[in-house]
Amino acid sequence: MALYDLYFSPTGGTKKVMTVLAEALGGARSGNLADPGEVSVVFGRDDVVLIGAPAYGGRVPALAVEKIEKLKTEGARAVLVAVYGNRAYEDTLLELRQAAEKAGFRPVAAVAAVAEHSIARTVAKGRPDEQDVTALRGIASAIRERLEGGEVPEPLAVPGHVPMKEYHGVPLKPTVTDDCVGCGFCARMCPAQAIFNEYPSRTDLDKCISCMRCVKLCPCGGRILDRDAVAGVAQMLEKAAPERKEPELFL
Ligand SMILES: Cc1cc2nc3c(=O)[nH]c(=O)nc-3n(C[C@H](O)[C@H](O)[C@H](O)COP(=O)(O)O)c2cc1C
Repeated sequence: MALYDLYFSPTGGTKKVMTVLAEALGGARSGNLADPGEVSVVFGRDDVVLIGAPAYGGRVPALAVEKIEKLKTEGARAVLVAVYGNRAYEDTLLELRQAAEKAGFRPVAAVAAVAEHSIARTVAKGRPDEQDVTALRGIASAIRERLEGGEVPEPLAVPGHVPMKEYHGVPLKPTVTDDCVGCGFCARMCPAQAIFNEYPSRTDLDKCISCMRCVKLCPCGGRILDRDAVAGVAQMLEKAAPERKEPELFL
């Protein structure tokens, strides 16, 4: 049995959660589905694949769904992980399960956990933190037991509703500052290919999914969000979910 850790993680929060789980399960080969390129591995029936994605409007980002559905497997077991910014993950696990099943995986466990909000970074700041890491390690132990022979209900029960919540993107899009040197790194790393390679200061706003990867990765601070708008989003989020949410496991 080989363990793999695959995540769609534009700004690294999902990756952090996944890494804690993967390490607690003994270590895994990992890959970021937000990076350019395809996954060429065919996951065997004995393999276990952790599949993680962030919640965007309570759903899996459409690009992540596409990437997950394209994975190739002969029926590997999957552990589904939804990572969210402490507001809510709503239909994310249900959509992850559907995408994984469509690719041919057998979901055996699901996890929801919090990471820093990638738009309003004061929300859930610093998470996953020590408390999350402890909880995630406990969750990994329970997953190991499931992998070692526990009965798996079919289909695995996860929260979510059909029809799923509608999501049409968020209006917040990064803008380019005078600090942009036109190096094109953001264009190469944009999972939506929304930034023009030849003119990295130009963005196709219809393609942009507001994932904030360009803002996070730009070495020059050349891409930013409007501060007042972010402050407004942070306020709205704190009001919507004032309490700290903890990692959850569904077996
Ligand atoms: C466009 C967008 C929509 C989001 N929607 C939600 C949401 O519905 N609920 C929530 O709690 N967090 C939401 N978040 C926060 C992310 O789920 C969270 O920050 C996650 O860790 C981002 O993953 P990443 O760090 O791997 O990019 C959203 C973030 C973005 C960029």
